[in-house]
Amino acid sequence: MALWGGRFSQESSALFKLFNDSLPVDYRLIEQDIVGSIAWADAITQVGVLTQQECTELQTALKELLTEVADKPELIIASGAEDIHSFVEQSLIAKVGDLGKKLHTGRSRNDQVATDLKLWCKKEGAQLLALLQKLKAALLDLTARELDAVMPGYTHLQRAQPVAFGHWCLAYVEMFERDISRLEDALKRADSCPLGTGALAGTAYPMDRHQLAQSLGFAGPTLNSLDTVSDRDHVIELCSDASISMMHLSRMAEDLIFFNSGEAGFIELDDQVTSGSSLMPQKKNPDALELIRGKTGRVYGSLVGILTTMKALPLAYNKDMQEDKEGLFDVMDSWSICLEMAALVLSGLKVNRDNTLSAAQQGYANSTELADYLVAKGMPFREAHHVVGEVVVAAIAQKKPLEEFALADLQAFADIIGEDVYACLTIESCLAKREALGGTAIVQVQAALDAKLS
Ligand code: ARG
Repeated sequence: MALWGGRFSQESSALFKLFNDSLPVDYRLIEQDIVGSIAWADAITQVGVLTQQECTELQTALKELLTEVADKPELIIASGAEDIHSFVEQSLIAKVGDLGKKLHTGRSRNDQVATDLKLWCKKEGAQLLALLQKLKAALLDLTARELDAVMPGYTHLQRAQPVAFGHWCLAYVEMFERDISRLEDALKRADSCPLGTGALAGTAYPMDRHQLAQSLGFAGPTLNSLDTVSDRDHVIELCSDASISMMHLSRMAEDLIFFNSGEAGFIELDDQVTSGSSLMPQKKNPDALELIRGKTGRVYGSLVGILTTMKALPLAYNKDMQEDKEGLFDVMDSWSICLEMAALVLSGLKVNRDNTLSAAQQGYANSTELADYLVAKGMPFREAHHVVGEVVVAAIAQKKPLEEFALADLQAFADIIGEDVYACLTIESCLAKREALGGTAIVQVQAALDAKLS
């Protein structure tokens, strides 16, 4: 039976019920709904609505209900209740009779659902933080294993300058650290308790909302009832933080898919996270990484969905807002499984050092070094850039790297070039020079790793 039958003389149509009910989605809030209800029982006891004995009886029944259904979603859904709040209330009435009907005094499903959802966001957010930390640890581990493997760095997907593989790893560590701080920040703002703001205007019972907030583990109560029941910023922020983080995961996946390609051959992915082709026996496909890249789309979709749902909603609660949960749940599920999967992929990843090194040696990745050499000999950089451009054209025509030119041939482009040029053109020298903070010199990458680990 619905919670609101009194004003109605006709039953809902079956189609309306199917359309309106949110239980098939919000059953996931069972724990939060019950925890919130237990705190609410205390709050209304303090203002004289319930006796201490009634309160204890209700709370015992609520705890019992939680143990009965916590890990049995099918039982909850089979009840056919309108939503999780109705389910909890009707189950409570079934357990303790008329006393169960007192619990909703002074409360609305509007402050109730807002409370449930914030509690859920806080719990799920903490789990996501742990998974981000786990991924970061897997990346740091990979950095330590493959720190000084040399590979080409790219701009415009063209080989640009050699970089240490560890430098590539730590670039993503920077991104995931920003994701962590963004999520922590969002969770701080989600940390205020809606309960006790009623349907929209505040509760008519003179309760201590500070104490209520504290009993539910919130930093404090929300401060405006109209805002409280219509605020879904925390949902939007989590979807937004997830979207940015998924963008990072997707870029990392894309880099690795390319590194794993037959064309690059830079890395070997573990059998555990790849699949074969049903037709072509030679194939080992990077499915895990492709799915991470692919799932990014649905996460963005949910962010745009909730932003669009909330846009132009008048104060205060509107049923449109019931649409907030499906997207959020999917976002948090997708984000967490992608973080876990990414960590697993990284833990089994090996670098093919011969391939990365020979790729770094090709493609004239040391051209900048030659220009810097000319600058050191007194040539203005713009002119040096031009001269090296001419050397590269000749090198491409002769199909050889810069360091294979004879000294006399190099001197034909600029007579200030001396024997010492060859030392500058080695990969080791290219890397070693980039020793300033943030650069790819091995000592610098090692220092960056040490700083992350300390
Ligand atoms: N199922 C609803 C939701 O998720 C709960 C709040 C219902 N409130 C109301 N005024 N009908 O938003």
